[in-house]
Amino acid sequence: MATERLDDVRARLRQDALARGINPRDVDLLLADLLSLSLASLYARGEIELDPARIDAYLQRRYTGEPLQYIRGHTEFYSRDFLVDDRVLIPRPETELIVETAIERAPRGARVIDIGTGSGCIAISIECERTDLRVTGIDRSFDALAVAETNRKRLDSRVSLAASDLFESISGTFDLIVSNPPYVPRAEYEQLATEVRVHEPRMALTPGPQGTEVIERLLDQAHARLAADGLVIMEVGYGQEDAIREIAETKRYAVDAFLPDLAGIPRVVVLSAHGW
Ligand SMILES: C[S@@+](CC[C@H](N)C(=O)[O-])C[C@H]1O[C@@H](n2cnc3c(N)ncnc32)[C@H](O)[C@@H]1O
Repeated sequence: MATERLDDVRARLRQDALARGINPRDVDLLLADLLSLSLASLYARGEIELDPARIDAYLQRRYTGEPLQYIRGHTEFYSRDFLVDDRVLIPRPETELIVETAIERAPRGARVIDIGTGSGCIAISIECERTDLRVTGIDRSFDALAVAETNRKRLDSRVSLAASDLFESISGTFDLIVSNPPYVPRAEYEQLATEVRVHEPRMALTPGPQGTEVIERLLDQAHARLAADGLVIMEVGYGQEDAIREIAETKRYAVDAFLPDLAGIPRVVVLSAHGW
């Protein structure tokens, strides 16, 4: 086994990554994982000797388009570490807005359901932040639910998880219905970066030609599932604001707010059942 100094390996691989259009920070994160070091220790301990073959294997996966989060096997969401692999969508930073809104708006002891829980990132974050809430996460993908269950145990959360196509296998009513549903229109999905299209689950991203198919079914079913004064807090896609307003109003919801993400894009809609 030929070893090399960490500093030298790092400099060479960062340069190589840059030349291939990959963020050199990915090299640092993968090296840190491999050596079980924090980033700060990685930068401070350049004299360590390592076998570059191991990091090369990771980087080959990265260079063929596999997302960094799947190679690392975990990612951060709302300041917690979630296990992820290709059975679930990689949690996105903009989705944290759902969590923030839900924990601000949920009355004490409220019943909350997360529709399309994937890795469990929304449901588990809400429950860990507000342990007074009774939170359920559902998904129609058994594969995704297995990942959510692992995250539930690791993060010591009391979320209940269930397999269901929207509300079909679920009973009862909820004070908050939260969701990051699949919303990418089919044609747009076909144009997504290979990294997303080839590696992330299709069912998590696109519901059909319009992009609003799951949202429409969800809002139809939510009528019977929202408690009095209940709210739907849902992420929508770039450019979908007008379409969602129209769908929601047609289905007799009041649009309480359209909240922008950090890029200023209307990202999370808050709907209420007032006026039914
Ligand atoms: C955009 S992903 C969101 C995952 C996770 N909540 C997040 O924000 O990272 C959508 C999720 O909805 C699930 N899903 C799609 N259609 C569904 C349906 N009809 N009923 C329940 N879950 C569904 C997918 O399996 C996927 O896990």
